[in-house]
Amino acid sequence: MDIVICRDAEQAGVVAAELIVKKLGGNPAPVLGLATGSSPLGLYAHLKHMQSTGEVDLSRARGFALDEYVAIDYEHPESYHNVIRRTVVEPLGLDPELIQVPDGAADDVALASVLYEKAIQVAGGIDLQILGIGANGHIGFNEPFSSFGSRTRAVPLTAQTRADNARFFDSPDQVPTHAITQGLATIRESRATLLIATGEHKASAIGRMIEGPVAVAHPASILQFHPDLTVVVDEAAGARLVDGEHFLRL
Ligand code: F6R
Repeated sequence: MDIVICRDAEQAGVVAAELIVKKLGGNPAPVLGLATGSSPLGLYAHLKHMQSTGEVDLSRARGFALDEYVAIDYEHPESYHNVIRRTVVEPLGLDPELIQVPDGAADDVALASVLYEKAIQVAGGIDLQILGIGANGHIGFNEPFSSFGSRTRAVPLTAQTRADNARFFDSPDQVPTHAITQGLATIRESRATLLIATGEHKASAIGRMIEGPVAVAHPASILQFHPDLTVVVDEAAGARLVDGEHFLRL
């Protein structure tokens, strides 16, 4: 596990993007796992810059979004279909035909989830998974007490997650109650994972993920078993880390 503590959120985005490009190692057609939310925005912005300078070319990358709300209209600006298109596909010059988002609008979300998991397998698995973390320790929408063996499936969102995401909607009751998410086992099988977190509201979740016991009460703690995990945080999100001498401080 590599832990990088940056001065601020801006530096974290730059460092995370550079580490991703290094991890991809020139692979012209990598399979990416794509997070939405606020955390990776700086990272995506710097990847866009690197794309414009020719430092990386993601035009042949395939991508699988981590999650999508259930029963949301895809035209809604906060559907992850739209968010992924707006914040990732268009700015990074990805081919929309190669990018998939779980089908949260399907009549049968259980079947849609199984098919999504299958599509990841058929693509050969995820080379590099980009993650954020919820204040409650969720990754994807794997809320506390999700099974470590879980696969892509529909899940209920906790009250805390719905409250955290209310900022994206006109009113809290518009936040969907369920989502389809890649499972913890799905995420763990990614060949490399980079998790980015910034801000003091993430400090407790980051401390428990890295230095706490591995427990389903804190789903991100499963990443302690990941063979190739990089965590990039700013000072505020890293503030609860005790064993600082083992971490790279920029
Ligand atoms: C997003 C996702 C979530 C977020 C997490 C943090 O696709 O799966 O796990 O990464 O909720 O959200 P932000 O970054 O908005 O604080």
